[in-house]
Amino acid sequence: MTVVARSCWNTLKGLPKPTLAALFAADPARVQHLATTLELPGGNILFDWSKTHLDDAHVGAFTDLATAMDFAGKRTALLAGELVNETEHRAAEHTAMRGWGSPDSVELAAEYHGRTASLVEAIHAGVMGDIRHLIHIGIGGSALGPALAIDALGRDGVVVDVHVVSNVDGLALEAAFACCDPQTTLIAVASKSFTTIETLTNAHSALNWLSENDVADPFGRVVALTAQPDKAIAWGVDESRVLPFMESVGGRYSLWSSIGFPIAVALGWEDFGHFLEGAAAMDQHFLETDGVDNLCLRAAFADQYYARLRGCQTRACFAYDERLKLLPGYLQQLEMESNGKRVTIDGAAVEGATAPITWGGVGTDAQHAVFQLLHQGTHLVPIDFIASIAPGDELDPAHHRILLMNCFAQGAALMAGKESEDPARVYPGDRPSATMLCDDLDPATLGALIAFHEHRTFANAVLMGVNPFDQFGVELGKQIANAIDEGGGSFDPSTDALLVAAGLA
Ligand code: F6P
Repeated sequence: MTVVARSCWNTLKGLPKPTLAALFAADPARVQHLATTLELPGGNILFDWSKTHLDDAHVGAFTDLATAMDFAGKRTALLAGELVNETEHRAAEHTAMRGWGSPDSVELAAEYHGRTASLVEAIHAGVMGDIRHLIHIGIGGSALGPALAIDALGRDGVVVDVHVVSNVDGLALEAAFACCDPQTTLIAVASKSFTTIETLTNAHSALNWLSENDVADPFGRVVALTAQPDKAIAWGVDESRVLPFMESVGGRYSLWSSIGFPIAVALGWEDFGHFLEGAAAMDQHFLETDGVDNLCLRAAFADQYYARLRGCQTRACFAYDERLKLLPGYLQQLEMESNGKRVTIDGAAVEGATAPITWGGVGTDAQHAVFQLLHQGTHLVPIDFIASIAPGDELDPAHHRILLMNCFAQGAALMAGKESEDPARVYPGDRPSATMLCDDLDPATLGALIAFHEHRTFANAVLMGVNPFDQFGVELGKQIANAIDEGGGSFDPSTDALLVAAGLA
């Protein structure tokens, strides 16, 4: 950390920390300052950060920190496709699929999109026969984004029924088989590296399932989505059904690439295009807006305030929308795999906490399960609420009215608290939340929401000085699993005993 950045952190640590009530009392226009409506292709999103503890002093000091960490330069480098992933010596080009990046990468991404669109349209036109189901096999970033987008946007009907299978536990694949007719099912094998054991094991079993059920040419039903097309071809997929994407697109940022194939198969290419447009609009806001008006940076200021100045070890996201019930799981990989780091970009130990633990659920269910702790527990948990003004359902409008009323009531209650003579009935209040209120949850809005979280994650990484684009922490467990597979010797006494007990040694 530079001397200037350390001095910014020292300033931040020394600032008074007024309560939310005091902040609202001191600034009657607080909502106007910290709640911003962003106009987006699919409809507006209101980003209300006024119920966080950001005040002018903290915003000023965080802005100085952003300058000291060269936030503007790093943001430009990211969106220009320059080398930002220092440890892996490459760019992080997820925005190239949304039109922002080096001209060569944007052109290549458009070519790859054209290839994916052609195959999607051919499938819809029946060129591969009567296709009614798609089993999408991938894990981590090769599954979480497609699962989220299809669950969020496919509820009014899909062109092809998609089942996303990630876990190597055979129960997951069996559950998909139970819903699909092998004669009308396509298999998508999604793996950036095309080496992931869970995915390749599931893919083999899916091929066996097709051949055991009299599909004459099982490989003729397989589409590969990968940054390693040669490996997919060597594995047996015909080149015409290998949809590549760039190696510089990180796994957890890859749903905009051919990894989004199942989204387009389910919803149609036009909707996938709107999804990309919404993300591109958020890219533009992120690139062209400075200081605290930049919504992704504003959110990162609050994230850093809670993680580093208030010692919050977790951050929760509650969508008051059934369509976003998979969002917390998606954000867990995005935020924790990106920023769960212990060293800075130059290899020094980080000075302070890095990514908080992201968790969450769906409202109103979570109110009846975990909100007790949020209101009265000893942990301080900053919360994001996400809701849509337009309902996703067609039932009595009472459903949506109750849903939204509860969402807003929770934010109000957490902040206001309540006095009581009975200690068990005291709500301390002063508990922070942010709210993202969408006009509607259409493809462009979902694209913008996901891109917002990507850029928020990047902004947090810049403020902490960590590289959000590598994930070496996942390797050691894989190596030990391989060593077990190869019968490679002895581990610790506990592990050795477990292996014996399970018949694996
Ligand atoms: O868990 C590590 C990881 O590399 C993730 O970053 C990635 O999304 C996932 O595994 C799947 O990798 P692949 O797409 O190469 O199969």
